[in-house]
Amino acid sequence: MKLKGFSVNGAGNLVLNGVDLVSLSRESERPIYVFNELLIRENLRLYQKALSLFYPKSSSIFYASKAFLNLAMASLIKQEGVGIDVCSGGELFIAQSAKIPSDKILMHGNNKSRRELQAAVEYGVKKIVVDNVEELALLQHITASLKKECSVLLRLNPGLDDIETHKYMVTGAKDSKFGFHVDRTKIAEIINDACSRGYIKFKGLHFHIGSNLQKVSFYEHALDKVFDFVVFLKEKGIEIEELNMGGGLGIAYQDHDPLPDIEKFIKTLSQKVIQLCEDKGIPLPHLMFEPGRSIVGPAGCTLYKIGSIKRGPNKILYAAVNGGMTDNLRPALYQAKHTAVLANRMNEPDSDQPYKIVGNCCETGDILIENIHLPHCVEGDVLVIFSTGAYTHSMVNNYNKHLLPGVIFVRDRAYEWVSKEQTLQDLIRFDGLPEHLR
Ligand code: LLP
Repeated sequence: MKLKGFSVNGAGNLVLNGVDLVSLSRESERPIYVFNELLIRENLRLYQKALSLFYPKSSSIFYASKAFLNLAMASLIKQEGVGIDVCSGGELFIAQSAKIPSDKILMHGNNKSRRELQAAVEYGVKKIVVDNVEELALLQHITASLKKECSVLLRLNPGLDDIETHKYMVTGAKDSKFGFHVDRTKIAEIINDACSRGYIKFKGLHFHIGSNLQKVSFYEHALDKVFDFVVFLKEKGIEIEELNMGGGLGIAYQDHDPLPDIEKFIKTLSQKVIQLCEDKGIPLPHLMFEPGRSIVGPAGCTLYKIGSIKRGPNKILYAAVNGGMTDNLRPALYQAKHTAVLANRMNEPDSDQPYKIVGNCCETGDILIENIHLPHCVEGDVLVIFSTGAYTHSMVNNYNKHLLPGVIFVRDRAYEWVSKEQTLQDLIRFDGLPEHLR
C-alpha cells in the first residue's frame, strides 16, 4: 500500500518523515500510536481547498473529533483554522481546553444530557445539531433560562438501507437510532413551532449516512431525498440556509482498497448540490462536511513488538504482539482488516508461512490480523500496522488492565509525545476504598 510519508533507510528500517520507526519503538514497552502530523494538516487543507475550488458559496469543515482527539490534535485543528465537531461533554471540554473559539465548534450526540447542552450553550457553540424532539424541548428550556441564542440544524434520517459498509457504521438507515424519523409534515411543524421563535434559530439540515464509504453515489442518493424535503419545506415557507452532509469518506486499509480522493469527493458532491439547487430554484446553502477518518486514518500507524510465536494448524503461525483489542478494537468489533509490515525487516522477502497476528488479551477474538505474509519473524521484531489513526486511540480500553498506550506526533525529522502512556498507578487512581475493606 502506498502510504504518504513512509520510506526505508539503509538499515532496512521503516522511516516516517525522516524518523526511524524501529528506534522510535524502543521508547516504550507498550504499543505506540504514531501520527504523521504533516499528513493530518495536508488532509485538512485538501478539504478546504477543494471546497473553495468547487463550491461557489461559503462552506466549512468541522473535523469529527470522535475519530481521534487529544489536546495536541485539538490545538492543531485550531491552528489550521477549521472547525471541530464534538459529540459529548468530554470532547467539548478538550476543544475548550485547546481554546478553540466557540464559533468553530459544532455539537452532535443522539442523547445529549442537560449538562452537555448547557455547557455548549454557555460556551456559545456555533451550532447544535438536534437529534430528536425531546432534545429540542430541552434546548429551548436551557436557552430561555440562560437567555442565550443558539443556532440549530436538524439531523435528518434519510432512511437509506442500501449503504455498503459494515452494518454498525450505517447511520442513515430506516432502523437507526440517529436523527428525526418522523414524517415530513411533522418535521415542518416542529421547525415552525420550536425553531423559529425564542432563542432557537433554525439554520438548516444535517445528515450523516454512514462511515468508511467507498462510493460517492450513496451521498448523491441521500441528497436527492434531502432536496425533496428541502422543496417541501420551501413550500411551507421554511428556508434552508445551511446544509451539513456529515462525514464518512472511506480510506484504504488493505493493498487493494482505493486511496481516498478528497478532491473528487468534494467536487462531485458540490456539483450535485449546485445542480439540485438550480433544478429546484433554491439558493445555494452554506455547505458543511464533518470528515474524521479521512483526515486522521491514513496519518496514523501503530508500533507493536512481536513476543511469542506459536505454530497453529494449517501451517499458520500465531505471532503475539504487546497490544491488541485494547488499543485497536476495530478488528474484533467490525472484523476490520488491516495490513502491516515488519519495520526492521523491510528489505527481506516474505516467508511462505502465513502469520496470524494476535493480541495479549485473554480473549480468543483478540486477533489484529487474521492472515498475513511477513518476512520470517522473531521475538522483538517491530510490527507496524497501518491506517490506525481513526477510531483506535479514541476507542481504547483497559481490558485485562493493560495500560493505555501513548501517542507520538512526527513532523519533519522530529517527533514529540503528545499523550503519555498510562502508568500502573493510573489503574487505581479513581478507585475508592471503603472503611470496612481497608
Ligand atoms: N459526523 C457524524 C454525525 C458522525 O456520526 C460521524 C461518525 C462522522 C461525522 C465522521 O465520520 P467519518 O468521516 O470518520 O467516517 N467506530 C467506527 C466508526 C464510527 C463512526 C461514527 N460516526 C469505526 O471504527 O469504523
